[in-house]
Amino acid sequence: MGPRKYDKVIANGRVIDPSLGFVSEAHIFIKDGRIVETQADSPAAKKLVKSLDKDQVIDAQGMLVTPGLIDVHVHLREPGREGAETVETGCRAAAAGGFTSVCCMPNTHPRIDNQETVKFVQDRAKTASARVYVVGAITKNLDGKELSEIGDLVKMGAVAITDDGRYVQNPEIMRRALEYARMFNIPVAQHAEDQQLVSGGVMNESFESTRLGLRGSPAAAEEIAVLRDIALCRLTGARLHIQHITTRRAIEAVRQAKREGIKVTCEACPHHFVLTDEEIGKEFNTHLKVNPPLRSRDDRDAVIAGLVDGTIDCIASDHAPHSDEDKDCEFDQAPSGMIGLETTVGLVKTYLIDKGFLDWADAVRKLTINPARIFNLPGGTLAEGSPADITIIDPDKKWTVRGDKFRSRSKNSPFIGLKLSGQVSMTILNGGVVYER
Ligand code: DOR
Repeated sequence: MGPRKYDKVIANGRVIDPSLGFVSEAHIFIKDGRIVETQADSPAAKKLVKSLDKDQVIDAQGMLVTPGLIDVHVHLREPGREGAETVETGCRAAAAGGFTSVCCMPNTHPRIDNQETVKFVQDRAKTASARVYVVGAITKNLDGKELSEIGDLVKMGAVAITDDGRYVQNPEIMRRALEYARMFNIPVAQHAEDQQLVSGGVMNESFESTRLGLRGSPAAAEEIAVLRDIALCRLTGARLHIQHITTRRAIEAVRQAKREGIKVTCEACPHHFVLTDEEIGKEFNTHLKVNPPLRSRDDRDAVIAGLVDGTIDCIASDHAPHSDEDKDCEFDQAPSGMIGLETTVGLVKTYLIDKGFLDWADAVRKLTINPARIFNLPGGTLAEGSPADITIIDPDKKWTVRGDKFRSRSKNSPFIGLKLSGQVSMTILNGGVVYER
């Protein structure tokens, strides 16, 4: 027998690829880690599948087949906090959540504000089960005082810059960051919370924070931050990406800015379209502490509306691992953040698709081609010739989130015990299976 024309076929699935406008029963043929062709189902295509060896066929009957999912907001904690997560464990969690590409944040120790640290993370990622794209720091040590060597970071492969975890409080520094980013055609991703107005707040400022006696951080902290940065975006013509947007007025500001033609994009996290600040008083579960905080019902509804009308471009997890030791304390003392890679697909299915807000194609768009375009990443598509990064989802599979099942090294999820519908069944990276349920 001569050389095989295909190494593998993902057969009989329902293929959803918003980048190609493709939704159809189809078969995806793979060779040398790349997609050779996608054939809509037909008697001829079925015959071709049948002619292949059994071990070449992945049967996706009853499953959804999408481009490998992309999460543009992930904390891998390496270097410096390997007890909470490493590049390797974080990428295992990514694969289990259906993500083949992640963008990692620079708030590591040391910070990713120089070429050596970019390179360190890239080296760690070489054998990992997901592609890792590094986001460099806007300012040295994330101190907000002096710009990093942005050109050096980009030269090393940084795909964007952010001081995530912190807002760039000084507008002049933010202006310069946007100007440099524009020269290099990368987005500036911003954690949009005015730190002076947050002023030590540990949850959303609301009736609930008053009732619980916890210091609140007002929605206005986000609105002010977003409005200022939109003004700077208008001034510089650069690309601004608002991370984890949460408030009605901030979302409305982005909506208006987009109408004006300003190059602003934004993401929302599952916890902000699923949960509200009313959850906190039930048990003071520190896994509910996150920045920006869980907001009001009205804000949560506005996040959903922003996802529906396209104001919010992507869904990102803000996967933020913290060890049990660090989270096992009073609510106001706990570090902020929750893991998210392994629950995103189930939360999107259960809370957006099953409730009729998005259809699968809308959801997949926000998890594939939209983030790829904003961060200039190569994936997010099943186009012929693309790397065979593919996610297979069992769309109606019921499951319960279990802490002991997480691949992540940390278990800080407020969703443990929750029943979800829709589960990742297999993740394929470069044509190889990196996760199988
Ligand atoms: O809750 C958060 N945790 N928000 C952030 O922006 C940073 C993150 C972290 O690094 O733990």
